[in-house]
Amino acid sequence: MSDRYCVFGHPVGHSKSPAIHAAFAEQTGEALEYVAIEAPLDDFAGAWQTFTADGGRGANVTVPFKEEAHRLCDTLSQRARRAGAVNTLVVDAQGHTRGDTTDGLGLVGDLRRQEVVLAGARILVLGAGGAVRGVLEPLLEAGPSSLLVANRTAAKAEALAADFADLGEVAGGGFDTVRGPFDLVINGTSASLAGDLPPLPDDLFAEGGVAYDMMYGSEPTVFLRWAGERGARGVDGLGMLVGQAAESFLLWRGMRPDVAPVLDSLRRSL
Ligand code: ATR
Repeated sequence: MSDRYCVFGHPVGHSKSPAIHAAFAEQTGEALEYVAIEAPLDDFAGAWQTFTADGGRGANVTVPFKEEAHRLCDTLSQRARRAGAVNTLVVDAQGHTRGDTTDGLGLVGDLRRQEVVLAGARILVLGAGGAVRGVLEPLLEAGPSSLLVANRTAAKAEALAADFADLGEVAGGGFDTVRGPFDLVINGTSASLAGDLPPLPDDLFAEGGVAYDMMYGSEPTVFLRWAGERGARGVDGLGMLVGQAAESFLLWRGMRPDVAPVLDSLRRSL
């Protein structure tokens, strides 16, 4: 029987992870099965226990279980501990549950693939929720000259920046504290979902600046449209999605699949 993996979410029917991991398995010749499981909102731990009792070897975790998954782990990677959330569960050799988070690696990997230079860059990150907390460590490790976290609720951005201050030049504030120009602006708010746009100055982007939206769709998001009208190059979050999956696959199988062909075919299917 092939090794079993899954993605837990609620809802989870829309998840692209089964298709992505099936493509990775084919590409690498690994024999594995990967399914989507809708865990009950009040019993994520039970769903994980049932899955591992049936021989499950690992899982991805998506909304709304990332924090709960973090709490049930026996061991955590350093970046997962700091993120306060996990998107990857691994059953280790002792049968213990190890938690990790690969979202930030997926983002940074995608930015590198897009040839966005992070070292020395002036970076603005919009939002201060779980999605942003999960990516700050790898972003700061890439060595930007400054990183500003701006959020609708300023206090949350300030607290988040303080939590990561040992890793680099990071500050937090409300949208009213945003003063460009920035080489890279990452939208990590869920505002796009509602078709909303944070209030931002028109002169946000430096020459050659890049706008990155963690969201994606068949059409550019509101944020990417707005940024394009102000001269920025826009990139959506589909590459981050495939990239985080590749990093999870590496944790489970010891090999990192090639993201590009899977991303290309996923893009065509949107
Ligand atoms: P996630 O896990 O996706 O990060 P979250 O933790 O609920 O979800 O965080 C959502 C983020 O989007 C927050 O930064 C939120 O701002 P607040 O902290 O002020 O709530 C931001 N957000 C959501 N809707 C928004 C909107 N319409 N305009 C601006 N920011 C918005």
